[in-house]
Amino acid sequence: MTKTARAFTNIALIKYWGKKNQQLKLPWTNSLSLTLDRFYTDTTSEIIDSDKDVIYLNESLLDEQKSKRIVNYLNNTRKQFGFTEHFKINSINHVPTSAGFASSASGFAALAASIDQTMDLKLTKTQLSILARNGSGSASRSIYGGFVEWIAGDNNENSYAVPIDENPDIDLEVLSVVVNQKAKKISSTIGMEKSVETSPFYPNWVKLVSSETIEIKEAIKQKDIQKIGEIAEHNAMSMHALTLSANPAFTYFEPKTVEIIHLIQELRQKGIMAYVTIDAGPNVKILGTHKSIEQVKTYLNNLSDVTTVVANIGHGIQYF
Ligand code: DP6
Repeated sequence: MTKTARAFTNIALIKYWGKKNQQLKLPWTNSLSLTLDRFYTDTTSEIIDSDKDVIYLNESLLDEQKSKRIVNYLNNTRKQFGFTEHFKINSINHVPTSAGFASSASGFAALAASIDQTMDLKLTKTQLSILARNGSGSASRSIYGGFVEWIAGDNNENSYAVPIDENPDIDLEVLSVVVNQKAKKISSTIGMEKSVETSPFYPNWVKLVSSETIEIKEAIKQKDIQKIGEIAEHNAMSMHALTLSANPAFTYFEPKTVEIIHLIQELRQKGIMAYVTIDAGPNVKILGTHKSIEQVKTYLNNLSDVTTVVANIGHGIQYF
């Protein structure tokens, strides 16, 4: 029986933005995320009698160009674990295109878990996190549910995620606000590389992440949503400052992104507890309590051309 591996996507509250080793995807800093329940990837892998992998994404066969990143990943995995089998991979993204989440985190976490199952590698969660990280850095964190920290490390064996609190009892919701569904022009891989190489503020970013990681972990322990939100928003804005200070400068923000940032600042003035975080794209994620997110939604309904999806705290890897 082929088992399906399911991995949920995660949103970084302390962002991963920059690698010291491109090939192994070793980051310059730790990062910290929240796994979300609404968006996930289901993946199965079957051994096939062929010397080529066959990759299906959302029921359609990927051509050579589109499957390159996954095939490279499978080649590296074969080399690392010393097996030669090829696979038919079937991956379904339950990340509504309207949700504006990147699927590489849930995608590579589900793929790593699926290969582990099919090849009976019996990997520990730590080893699984490392294998997921080799595909996409943020995937290392999707092995666990709840709040998760990725420890930067400095080699392939000591860079992996650890759970901070997998089932936190906290009234925290994430509202995903989609302003644009088009594929981004500058991928996160390229964007972070440009930031590391050319932003004069990069060394400060490394220092900032180290202090904000300590602060947010304390806020999580205290279940202090205001503090978690303040730190997450400041960290996200600081990450985007690295793109604006790169040379040449670039930004993932679009006019609507900025409009929503302003709206959330105004709502805070009115006493609504809500904070923004933004990844390598124009879409905005708003953090708040169930009540404050309901309030934010009513204001967002007045904006044209935006769709919203609410997510709660999600699980780690599952098999069925
Ligand atoms: C802004 O994990 O997509 O979402 O390791 O190059 O595949 P690669 O990058 P990726 O970068 C995610 C960047 C981010 C922040 C985060 O998730 O921590």
